[in-house]
Amino acid sequence: MLRIAVLVSGSGSNLQAIIDEIEKGSLNCEIKYVISDSEKAYGLERAKNHGIETIALDRKIYKGKVSDEILNLINGQVDLIVLAGYLSILNGEILRVFRNKIINIHPSLIPSFSGAGMYGIKVHEAAVKKGVKYSGCTVHFVNEEVDGGEILLQEVVPVFVEDTAETLQKRILVEEHKLLPKAIKLISDKKVKIENGKCYISK
Ligand code: GRF
Repeated sequence: MLRIAVLVSGSGSNLQAIIDEIEKGSLNCEIKYVISDSEKAYGLERAKNHGIETIALDRKIYKGKVSDEILNLINGQVDLIVLAGYLSILNGEILRVFRNKIINIHPSLIPSFSGAGMYGIKVHEAAVKKGVKYSGCTVHFVNEEVDGGEILLQEVVPVFVEDTAETLQKRILVEEHKLLPKAIKLISDKKVKIENGKCYISK
């Protein structure tokens, strides 16, 4: 069974979506740890409510060493790291040890509205300001480039002229909750191959 660590910084609604799919029996994996860079993340409460081990590494205390600390704690114990609203940037050794074994969900159609500084509501503010007709969400692999790894799955969401960043965020979040568990299932079913900067998904 695929063993995963889910990293969160905030509300953890994507984490909840993964937990729900596991409990329904439609996702065959085990969440070994939920890790946060903030003790206040509500995602930690969600994990505790379901008996999942939690770790809080305050980024103000660990500063640039959060990634190394996470690697120390989970190395050899998980097969996949899932970033679900994790706001710190992973860096250093963890990116080499977990090469092609870290995925992230981003609330836009990468490469639009992505990269350094594009997170949370800022992504949706930029999409609304630009007047795009479609936005969406992307699950991608994580490498040294922020939001630059291979794209695994994307879902398109319409943007309406009367949208605010908040209404768009809400509409996209509904799709995120389906896309992230779907991505984990593909990996757990060993259907994903990465080659020449692209993801190939087998039937
Ligand atoms: C989501 O929009 C996700 O795409 C982004 O951060 C948000 C996290 O939401 N990376 P939640 O904590 O899962 O509710």
